[in-house]
Amino acid sequence: MVRYDILDLLAVNSEDFVSGERISQQLHVTRAAVWKQIKVLKEEGFEIEGQTKNGYRLIRTPLSLNEWALKRALTTTSLGNEIDLEDELLSTNVRAKELSRKGGVHGQIVLAKRQSAGRGRLQRQWESPSGGLWMSVVLKPNLSLADASKLTLAASVAIVDALEEHFLLRIGIKWPNDLIYKGEKIAGILGEVVGEWNAIQTLILGIGINANFPREQLDSALNATTLLEILGHEVDLNVLAAGILRHLENQVKALENKAFEELRLNWTQRALGLGENVRVLRGEQVFLGVFRGISVDGELILETEEGEKCFTAGEVQLRSCVGKYF
Ligand code: BTN
Repeated sequence: MVRYDILDLLAVNSEDFVSGERISQQLHVTRAAVWKQIKVLKEEGFEIEGQTKNGYRLIRTPLSLNEWALKRALTTTSLGNEIDLEDELLSTNVRAKELSRKGGVHGQIVLAKRQSAGRGRLQRQWESPSGGLWMSVVLKPNLSLADASKLTLAASVAIVDALEEHFLLRIGIKWPNDLIYKGEKIAGILGEVVGEWNAIQTLILGIGINANFPREQLDSALNATTLLEILGHEVDLNVLAAGILRHLENQVKALENKAFEELRLNWTQRALGLGENVRVLRGEQVFLGVFRGISVDGELILETEEGEKCFTAGEVQLRSCVGKYF
């Protein structure tokens, strides 16, 4: 795209102005075309200073999702190598599944500025207004079926690490992967298997972060918050997405190298409700006990009066005996 070629030129010379003439010569387009593309870039949220004598200078990239800015922020080797970024999708997970069935590669990511039918865990809907980070990652990891189920745990640790690194926020994890800030949900993860798991081994990791929008845009019945609400300002979604993907890539590599113990420790350090009395809901069934952490297989360990019971993430919900989110 010509306008991204213009940005490349401006970015390597970010201290200086680049003349319209130089851009037009290097990219083999007319001066009028350069001017038009600069106008489009400004509409996309790029701050570009223009001076009649000196030309153009890139001042700031947009905080909202943008393919060029995201590529520039990425430092991963595989996650994010293929990017599908749309203004609106029903659900990035649905699109990612379609792409992976058509041969999508490991690390392909799908992002939407908003989702009209975002999906949450346990068949719930996920409200996805503009300003959120709605992203799905196609993973075809070198993992056994048993180990692959640990990827959603890895994703929650990756997101917590990224939020802590970028904004110094201390986020807790409510098993299996609700991310909670001071009792309110800030992000969620939906892992979905494509096709026969042991035949194709593709997992779609859907990551939803309530970021640059006010909390009022979410259903008031939800116990939720947003980064805008917490920090008081918007954040760079491209830098945040790149940070999450970097941490996630490291976690996936660690799992591929059989280093689950470190992930288990990291997850446990952030876990909410450890050692507390909890209720585990499986359909109509309720199990009471003390939450003891996660097993070497990534299952929830509940100490009940009849002894220890383990639960996998797909089948149950965890509730505090005191409040909803501990
Ligand atoms: C949950 O906590 O219930 C999981 C929420 C997951 C939401 C994300 S947003 C991006 C991706 N696309 C979806 O439709 N859902 C996930």
